[in-house]
Amino acid sequence: MKALLLAGGLGTRLRPLTLHLPKPLAPVMDRPWLEHLIEHLKLQGIDEFVIAVHHHADRIEQKLGDGDRLGVRIAYSREPRPLGTAGAIRHALDLLGDRFIVVNADIIHLVRLVPLLEFHRNHRALVTIGLTEVEDPSHFGVVERAWDGRVLRFVEKPSRERAPSRLVNAGVYVMERAAVERIPAGREVSIERETFPALIASGAAVFGCPVQGYWLDMGTLERYMQLHRDLLDERVHLPGMPRASRPGVWIGPGARVHPAARLVPPVWLGEGCRIGAGCTVGPHAVIGAEVELLSHTRVTDAIILPRVQVSGITTIGNAIVGPDFTAALRPITAAQTEGVLQP
Ligand code: GTP
Repeated sequence: MKALLLAGGLGTRLRPLTLHLPKPLAPVMDRPWLEHLIEHLKLQGIDEFVIAVHHHADRIEQKLGDGDRLGVRIAYSREPRPLGTAGAIRHALDLLGDRFIVVNADIIHLVRLVPLLEFHRNHRALVTIGLTEVEDPSHFGVVERAWDGRVLRFVEKPSRERAPSRLVNAGVYVMERAAVERIPAGREVSIERETFPALIASGAAVFGCPVQGYWLDMGTLERYMQLHRDLLDERVHLPGMPRASRPGVWIGPGARVHPAARLVPPVWLGEGCRIGAGCTVGPHAVIGAEVELLSHTRVTDAIILPRVQVSGITTIGNAIVGPDFTAALRPITAAQTEGVLQP
């Protein structure tokens, strides 16, 4: 079975990170998120992928190529203009089979596909929407289901009081070709706002199936930081991510730490990075590959993206630092972690 990865969005909420980089290529522990996602789906038995691209399409195609490096096959569906989350699926239809998986490429999840597919088959569904439970559903597409799992209502980003449940669209679907043929071609269509409500209104067999496992929408800088905190705290482990060198400390190959530097776990040091004398790194610091921290830098609760050089005596806290930007984050509070589910 093939998986279609939706990876063409503008990622406006993750700016400035996404000004030069498509959101699905945002580095997560020194690896583009899309590679982690493909590794995970490969472990679930998927080895053929179609990636729907638009924004920074070249960057994605150059990075992943035909998939050979990852041991999978990748084809691309390029949109001349952004066609939206359903328009992108419609546009890719000729590259897909009769039944396929659709995954939002900006959702961090380790969803198990077999139970989702079994549910889909057992219910003879036209579409099965993977659902996850969150504390505050007001940022998400919320679902009300009948006793048998059939979706009665799909409400996109309702106020907290009006939300019919706390089960939200996890951004993972099983779809039949017949469902996609009903999406109008050649124009922008939103799956959440248009396609699901229309299919449900027509009485089509749209079902919702709760999925287990870690789930996080990394669409904002705070959630991107939250993801890294969760990885450092080992609340989640990504396939292919190395084990810690010692508790709470990951040291990549070729990383050099001056004897007069201090590491405070949890901390990730990417491949080939250099930590100078007098630096204090951690807790909750991710230092990307080839980063240079010159002397006496202090980094806490922060991500330094690959190949950035930080010079001078400075303190970096609650921030994401890129090659040409520093994005200050609001301190993490319970309210900002609502997209995180850890059953
Ligand atoms: P924001 O601009 O911050 O809302 O992010 P986004 O543009 O990525 O939108 P959203 O989070 O709603 O998108 C969900 C998923 O669908 C992401 O993986 C996007 O890359 C993808 N996506 C959104 N719009 C399009 C589109 O027009 N074409 C394609 N191919 N993918 C899309």
